[in-house]
Amino acid sequence: MNILITGASGFIGGFIVEKALEEGLKVFAAVRKTSNLKYLKDPRINFIEIDFSNCEKLAEQLKTFKEKNGSLDYVIHNAGVTKVLSDKDYNKVNFEYSKNLVEAIINSGHKLTKFVFISSLAASGPGQHNTDTPISLLDPPMPVTEYGRSKLKTEEYLKGLTNFPYVIMRPPAVFGPRDADMFSFFKLISNKLEVYIGDNLQYLSFIYVKDLASAVIRATTSQVQQKTYFISDNQKYTNVIFSERIKFLMDKKTFVIKLPMFLVNIVAFLSENAGKLTKKPSPLNIDKINELKCSNWLCDASSFYTDTDFKAQYSLDKGIEETIKWYKNEKWL
Ligand SMILES: NC(=O)c1ccc[n+]([C@@H]2O[C@H](COP(=O)([O-])OP(=O)(O)OC[C@H]3O[C@@H](n4cnc5c(N)ncnc54)[C@H](OP(=O)(O)O)[C@@H]3O)[C@@H](O)[C@H]2O)c1
Repeated sequence: MNILITGASGFIGGFIVEKALEEGLKVFAAVRKTSNLKYLKDPRINFIEIDFSNCEKLAEQLKTFKEKNGSLDYVIHNAGVTKVLSDKDYNKVNFEYSKNLVEAIINSGHKLTKFVFISSLAASGPGQHNTDTPISLLDPPMPVTEYGRSKLKTEEYLKGLTNFPYVIMRPPAVFGPRDADMFSFFKLISNKLEVYIGDNLQYLSFIYVKDLASAVIRATTSQVQQKTYFISDNQKYTNVIFSERIKFLMDKKTFVIKLPMFLVNIVAFLSENAGKLTKKPSPLNIDKINELKCSNWLCDASSFYTDTDFKAQYSLDKGIEETIKWYKNEKWL
């Protein structure tokens, strides 16, 4: 079976590629000229350079692809931006490019069995403030960031298509080896600093990247269609528990620092603008503050487990341990 995986060079994409190969699928990894291929060394990977900005050219390219390789059976559309230099890039990459890809697939005559879109919990928006009631798929989506709105727009576009075999996956915070964003938490704790934003206890869901990759492949190859799912390890955590577990597994004693919101706003403003100067978007930015302020990012992933018989293989501790080990081996820590 032919599978196209976009965003293959990214943190999550690399693990999805590995899982797809493990399942015996013929993998076409969509990359750009500038993509870092460090984690895509398996000789079974076929590379395809894709420019999502031009739908007609993309359709031509996919037509030629089909003549040469046969139809694509599966597409996992994982490419996306989580931090940008200009807010309008969320809409451009996460919505317009996704729409271009889908139109190009349809116009080039591929007969897909499944199109899995990697959305985000951010598309749904937070749960009830100061409760640990998990966000349900029945809750009307109310994203609080431009990022979340761009993901939701693509979800709505997919749902509006006739007979298109989509599955929408909404992961919460993803952590694991190779990730540079969550790494900041690990780094701070390794430097004996436990930093919180304000006094707020935040309820959180997590998923370890290898479990997410397995879940995405399960969604791809199982019978489910035209469905939206949250995908976490389906446990309840808080920001304090997450820090405590990293601290415990690193065997560190820490100083707790509670940053007041006004200070976080200033830091976000400064790091966003520093990012603009260095042309490197910062994971802490003004849009992100809207997420950090919310106290409930717990989601209910049970329907994915029930519908696909999925079982997460990693407890939070097992995932954190493996991540720390990787950061240490790679001398990040
Ligand atoms: N990490 C999380 O906690 C999390 C949580 C929920 C959802 N997600 C979603 O999961 C997906 C992967 O995220 P990630 O954390 O793995 O991010 P990442 O490491 O930044 O990877 C993003 C991937 O998308 C590709 N990409 C970005 N802009 C592109 C463009 N204009 N054209 C073509 N390719 C482009 C990147 O290609 P290059 O390598 O060439 O830049 C890279 O392969 C995203 O859709 C994200 O929204 C992530």
